[in-house]
Amino acid sequence: MSGAGKKVLVKTFGCQMNVYDSERMAEALSAEGYAETEVVEDADLVILNTCHIREKAAEKVYSELGRLRQLKSERLKQGRETMIAVAGCVAQAEGAEIIARAPAVDLVVGPQSYHRLPELVSRASRERTSLIETNFPEEDKFSHLPRRAPRHAASAFLTVQEGCDKFCTFCVVPYTRGMEYSRPVSAILAEAEALVAGGVAEITLLGQNVNGYHGEDETGAATSLAGLLTRLASIEGLQRLRYTTSHPRDMSDDLIDAHARLQKLMPYLHLPIQSGSDRILAAMNRKHTAAEYRALVARIRKARPDIALSTDIIVGFPGETDADFAATLALVEEVGFAQAYSFKYSPRPGTPAAKIDAQVPEAVKIDRLHRLQHMLDGQQILFNTACVGRTFPVLFERSGRRQGQLIGRSPYLQPVHAFAEPDLLGRIVTVEILGAGPNSLSGVIQAA
Ligand code: 5AD
Ligand code: SF4
Repeated sequence: MSGAGKKVLVKTFGCQMNVYDSERMAEALSAEGYAETEVVEDADLVILNTCHIREKAAEKVYSELGRLRQLKSERLKQGRETMIAVAGCVAQAEGAEIIARAPAVDLVVGPQSYHRLPELVSRASRERTSLIETNFPEEDKFSHLPRRAPRHAASAFLTVQEGCDKFCTFCVVPYTRGMEYSRPVSAILAEAEALVAGGVAEITLLGQNVNGYHGEDETGAATSLAGLLTRLASIEGLQRLRYTTSHPRDMSDDLIDAHARLQKLMPYLHLPIQSGSDRILAAMNRKHTAAEYRALVARIRKARPDIALSTDIIVGFPGETDADFAATLALVEEVGFAQAYSFKYSPRPGTPAAKIDAQVPEAVKIDRLHRLQHMLDGQQILFNTACVGRTFPVLFERSGRRQGQLIGRSPYLQPVHAFAEPDLLGRIVTVEILGAGPNSLSGVIQAA
């Protein structure tokens, strides 16, 4: 065991898929004897699991690496070695450039090679050179990673699909995560059963384009996400299912129907729109119009009238005019989102949109983002306030900051605070909602 007596810290940036990958990396290393730590000064191995989606996210890695370089030399003075690894999407996108900018880095490893992490770490340490592994290997990492360890958590992520073939012109994902790949149904069922046996009550299926899922079942036939959710819903003890992130084009009828049919499927859907202007949607290569999105929302709401919708929106995409932005505001106004993420467009190396001349000035982007966020914040508060006086089944996930307080999630994914006995952690309890804030609800337990 190459890691016996050693400690590892995995620091995660970016999306939920990175959170899942970090857990799997820690598990792979724990099979080699590594213990996890949260104290960076104690770590013999530090892994930064990075995000490349916007420039700001990618640059964070380099400021972190600056701090780690100092720590590495301080530990060396005490006779302790520190290995620094960069994983995730920056590793995939920048490869050798990372070592050129930050020579203290010992290992650069792309998201498709995590199953080789223990071997790569010990090789880098033995050979005392910096290693770079950013190939897309033939073998599938999932089938080579150790079996999922018990999470001791109420809710867990499970990656079912990776990569993306949609090629939105702003996005690095097709380059960092590669082409679409769907895990086989049997592997997902086995992993879900192991999670549930370990006490997990809720599973969120992850994929960059999760509703494009088309994994093989036991007979070799392609299974849709709706088919997969149906299979998972029959696992006893599994109480809630969610999935993210979806592309509007892949929101098939059977998936919409699953929202009407499957009780365990929570009434929440993250469905990025990116822009409300058809001209900009076309320039983004989104493959749908604003009217098609509106019609889709209407069909989803017909199947599941109470569904909470969430979205992603980019302002200041190259060539975006005041009229285009007004169309985005109009669409937001009309749809009404329970929750949303909004971003200023960030040109990414290698993507088609970065090469467009008509980049929008920063001041305009800032102004549009403020105006959009003002509207989105208002919608979120409205949605939360409308919950006051209702009762929700809440899955309690963790302790709150105040003594005796637990925090859980409503079916609509809102955090809910309530005073409750710690033995309710991991259980679904009826809570009467008494208060609403911009980002959470509070309430009292009705019945266990
Ligand atoms: N600039 C700004 N936002 C981006 N996103 C993806 N690429 C960019 C970019 N270049 C946003 C999209 C996506 C979310 C995960 O990040 O809204 O849905
Ligand atoms: Fe960031 Fe996309 Fe990579 Fe997730 S998949 S870490 S959002 S670049």
